[in-house]
Amino acid sequence: MRQYRKLSPPTARLTIDIVASALVLVVLSVAIFPGAAYSQSNTANRPWMRRSLTAEQRADLLLHAMTLDEKLIMVHGVDPRPIPGYVGYVPGNARLGIPALRLADGRAGVGNGAKDVTMLPAPIAATSSWDTNLLRKFGEVLGNEEWGKGTNVALAPSIDVVRVPEWGRTFESYGEDPYFNGQMAIAEIQGIQSQGPIADANMYLTMNQENNRFKEDSIVDRRTLHEIYLPPFEAAIEEGRVGTVMCAYVKTNGSYSCESPYLLTTLLRKQLDFQGWVMSDWGATHSTVASANAGLDQEMPDAKYYGALLKAAIESGQVSAATLDEHVRRILVTMFRFGLFDKQQTGTWSSYVRTPAHAAFSLEAAEQGTVLLKNKDGLLPLPGGESIAVIGAAGGAKPKASGGGSSGMIAPYAITPVDGIRKRVAGHAQVAYDDGSDLARAAEVAKAAKVAIVFVNTDDSEGRDRPSLELPNHQDELVEAVAAANRNTIVVLNTGGPVLMPWIDKISGLIEAWYPGQEDGNAIAAVLYGDVNPSGKLPLTFPRSADEIPTSRAAQWPGVNGNSTYSEKLDVGYRWYDAHHVQPLFPFGFGLSYTTFKLSELRVTPAKLSEADSKMSVQVELQVKNTGKRDGAEVIQVYVEQPEENREPPRQLRAFTKVVLGAGESQSVRLSVSPRSFSIYDPDGESWKMRGGRYRIEVGTSSRDLPLQRDIEVTDHQMHN
Ligand code: BGC
Repeated sequence: MRQYRKLSPPTARLTIDIVASALVLVVLSVAIFPGAAYSQSNTANRPWMRRSLTAEQRADLLLHAMTLDEKLIMVHGVDPRPIPGYVGYVPGNARLGIPALRLADGRAGVGNGAKDVTMLPAPIAATSSWDTNLLRKFGEVLGNEEWGKGTNVALAPSIDVVRVPEWGRTFESYGEDPYFNGQMAIAEIQGIQSQGPIADANMYLTMNQENNRFKEDSIVDRRTLHEIYLPPFEAAIEEGRVGTVMCAYVKTNGSYSCESPYLLTTLLRKQLDFQGWVMSDWGATHSTVASANAGLDQEMPDAKYYGALLKAAIESGQVSAATLDEHVRRILVTMFRFGLFDKQQTGTWSSYVRTPAHAAFSLEAAEQGTVLLKNKDGLLPLPGGESIAVIGAAGGAKPKASGGGSSGMIAPYAITPVDGIRKRVAGHAQVAYDDGSDLARAAEVAKAAKVAIVFVNTDDSEGRDRPSLELPNHQDELVEAVAAANRNTIVVLNTGGPVLMPWIDKISGLIEAWYPGQEDGNAIAAVLYGDVNPSGKLPLTFPRSADEIPTSRAAQWPGVNGNSTYSEKLDVGYRWYDAHHVQPLFPFGFGLSYTTFKLSELRVTPAKLSEADSKMSVQVELQVKNTGKRDGAEVIQVYVEQPEENREPPRQLRAFTKVVLGAGESQSVRLSVSPRSFSIYDPDGESWKMRGGRYRIEVGTSSRDLPLQRDIEVTDHQMHN
């Protein structure tokens, strides 16, 4: 058996690869462009090219030299685009030496039809690793390939909290918890931006459905906005230092995202002190004057409202020249901050950017994001000699490696599950395949084998929500038929989010593999045969039935008369199940391993928080032991339960970490819980307030398995933003 694959080797390879590419880039750019010489020789008549100045000073100097028309060119894309590839393009300015902006999609790799790129697993798979180091590397690979393709603004990541389990873009996003999404966003953004491109936190804000996304109005109270939907963006801005934010299609409380003074100015600029620029989602700009005055810096992909109409609005005084300057300045400051004026980018849309190290990382991310949900009588991992029947379209005929829409991409290859399994057992076992299109035939094939593995999938895409949580195309019947024919039936889910599983009690094994990217079959074979010990955990709740979800009423989703009412308020995801005492099928944070872990010796310090400690984090320490016979990894999760009178959800995730332990090994683990965890947002005072009372710190390995608990006393205190 291969040992549990630790994270370091592929990382080391990736780093070497990136360093090597960087060296080649430097050599090439010196050869092709006289690089620095170009900038320096121009500093006399282009003082903004002086690198000793700050980004702000350089932007001010440049802004001063620009004409009105030159400024206007910066605040919108051009479509049709003059060069192939990129989904967004802002032309450069030869007179002033401003580089063009080339924007490209891709949340799991470079999108927009790019070739010779690496297809990573869907973000929801990567975040199921609960490993921020892995997300950082995910961002590095994505950022490296985007930059290599000539992209300087990468339209990733998507960080909205998943409110509706049917949401068609769940696979592109991270999960249902604001803190979790925030931590993942910081890691991925830092990874992307370390490779050159400016990242883009999208889609701001309350982007929680596809069906009515162009006209839906999210009716949501301010406390919920601050406690649930804003925190991922706050983290992306404050710690991730993201360069751009994309405003969404939907409206929030009556205003389109891209013309809402509250969202764009009060929250983003004043509360979060965002210094980068805001671009609209493609076609999400709806006005000229209202948008420009509300704080939208750039229209994408074209100049419908920010071209001639904006010029006229400035000339008539409806939009001030100072407002336009502010928009342009934010774009320029960010471009200077990211070195776009100083670095030469040699790659083009046709560059070949995928590498063996990136492929190795794609495999690692898929393995680490795979979640083992059921393992009756220790059927898994498979010993390796038994005959196997692989059933289902996603198992071979139509592998489901990625989702659709702007995250869709051209995979260089996709290893099918049946090929991955055949390669893994080569010569040692029979592996039959049936696409499952005929139930009787599939059952026959299943019956003839020792173990049957059924692959079922959803076809999730931007632009449409799933009509229900049921598996489409009679796949439930397929599972039933196979399970009736073979008692050793394992189901592998290639879904973009939760699905209902009426057959759950009839199967022996269940694995959520999500959309695993180009290494699909290799990753699932490694988990099935125990070459990798699964350590993924669900980043969202799987419900037992469709009427037992937080957004089961039409008024909530898809909405009535264009309004989606967020009446569940703070009770999003697991918060709702906990508050309503509803047992989910699989809870948030849940995932099994081939080994076992024991948590003990919880210490929480200090035991009391007073006014004087209000900026102090609470330290949580414990021992974790791998009590089984295999190496493995466990995710330690810390939830905080507020005093009942605060009317907060029963418990909220406030810290987590992943620990890799050899068989029998122990480790002490330390996590820190921020003062925010002991506060609620007060919409009247527009600030976070620490609330006094007795809080409970709960530590465990899923939101419903929290064996270690300690209380902590907090005294009232007003917090400042
Ligand atoms: C999507 C964005 C994407 C843009 C450009 C829009 O439809 O919502 O996520 O970046 O298209 O492709």
